[in-house]
Amino acid sequence: MDLKTFDEFRRSARRRIPRVAFDYLDGGSGTEVGLAESVDAFERLRFVPEVLVNVDRIDLSRSLFGRDFALPFGFAPLGLTGLIWPGADRFLAETAVDRNMPHVLSTAASTSIEDIADISGGKSWFQLYVAADEAVADDIVDRADKAGVEVLFVTVDVPVPGLRMRDLRNGLQLPLRPSLRLGLDIATHPAWCLALARSGMPRFANIERYTDPSASAGQLAKFMAAQSSGRLDWAVLDRIRQRWPRKLVIKGVLSPGAAERARDAGADGIVVSTHGGRQLNSAIASIDALPAIRAAVGPDFPVLLDSGVRSGEHVAKAIARGADFVLLGRLPMMAIAGGGEAGLNSAVDHVADDLRRTLALLGITTVDELAGCQIPS
Ligand SMILES: Cc1cc2nc3c(=O)[nH]c(=O)nc-3n(C[C@H](O)[C@H](O)[C@H](O)COP(=O)(O)O)c2cc1C
Repeated sequence: MDLKTFDEFRRSARRRIPRVAFDYLDGGSGTEVGLAESVDAFERLRFVPEVLVNVDRIDLSRSLFGRDFALPFGFAPLGLTGLIWPGADRFLAETAVDRNMPHVLSTAASTSIEDIADISGGKSWFQLYVAADEAVADDIVDRADKAGVEVLFVTVDVPVPGLRMRDLRNGLQLPLRPSLRLGLDIATHPAWCLALARSGMPRFANIERYTDPSASAGQLAKFMAAQSSGRLDWAVLDRIRQRWPRKLVIKGVLSPGAAERARDAGADGIVVSTHGGRQLNSAIASIDALPAIRAAVGPDFPVLLDSGVRSGEHVAKAIARGADFVLLGRLPMMAIAGGGEAGLNSAVDHVADDLRRTLALLGITTVDELAGCQIPS
């Protein structure tokens, strides 16, 4: 596989998948300045490297929530994966197992908690969108428990959906409404059509059971939208904390106050995230929010970071600024869209190689030592 970098996969994905799917993956909210800023903020940071250190043996392993992972990064939860590349959830879950990395399955993914738990040998992580209907919310939590999910991520930065202009312009909805433009869009992407023929139409595999079995994809999508809850608050979170017996992580925190409150409410960790620039367009970049959050929660509370991470250097910067672990959203999915399963493996190799090289050039040999690296502000 010749493709390695995010930009290379992005160029290939633009050709290989229908526009409606590419824009859904690639786009952000509003004018997309927040999306651009989430990456630019990483690019602005500079290290002060050390020299004359033996860096022959570099160790990229990292422990989190009681498990030892081969790398300090994993795959963030993505919804509607089956639209971007049919079968992608399985690629992500299988690759995560093969490479000993974590993968977080989304409530809005196209494959069920139970199917992914089978692939992950009972070591899966799951992201919860808290449904407006309490019975549905509780049932999803109970299913995750029964499937042996180790870590539950509760996403809290979607009180309303972000204003994704590209999706609005493309008329993104399920089922895809037939039109000449859409027909041409799909017909001109044969590899994607073939994958669709193999894996089937994109579904909301985790929530379809809560609707009438004869519900159309359109009714399901409406149900999904109606279930996103603007009522999620600290009291609801308390209820979920009481119900969920294992590790609980709050995803989508950007303020030190909310980070402290999450810790005090019994969360086992947080994800500092702008949802990949898909929610509040003018939100602070997660890498810029991180130092104050780390200072607020103290050195021992698990803090993960996502949004804007495009390389191993970015992973190093996130950990140097205070993250324990990093999640990649668009990067692995762009790799699948641009290069299939081989693309995903190539992308992971490239991020890992880049991280290894960055550590060597900084004069350190373990991920832990990143915490001592200087990034002058
Ligand atoms: C296409 C797409 C779908 C997403 N779906 C979800 C989701 O269902 N649940 C969730 O918590 N976050 C979702 N996110 C946000 C990601 O989990 C993650 O926070 C974000 O992608 C990180 O930014 P990055 O793409 O720049 O790495 C989605 C992001 C993208 C790009």
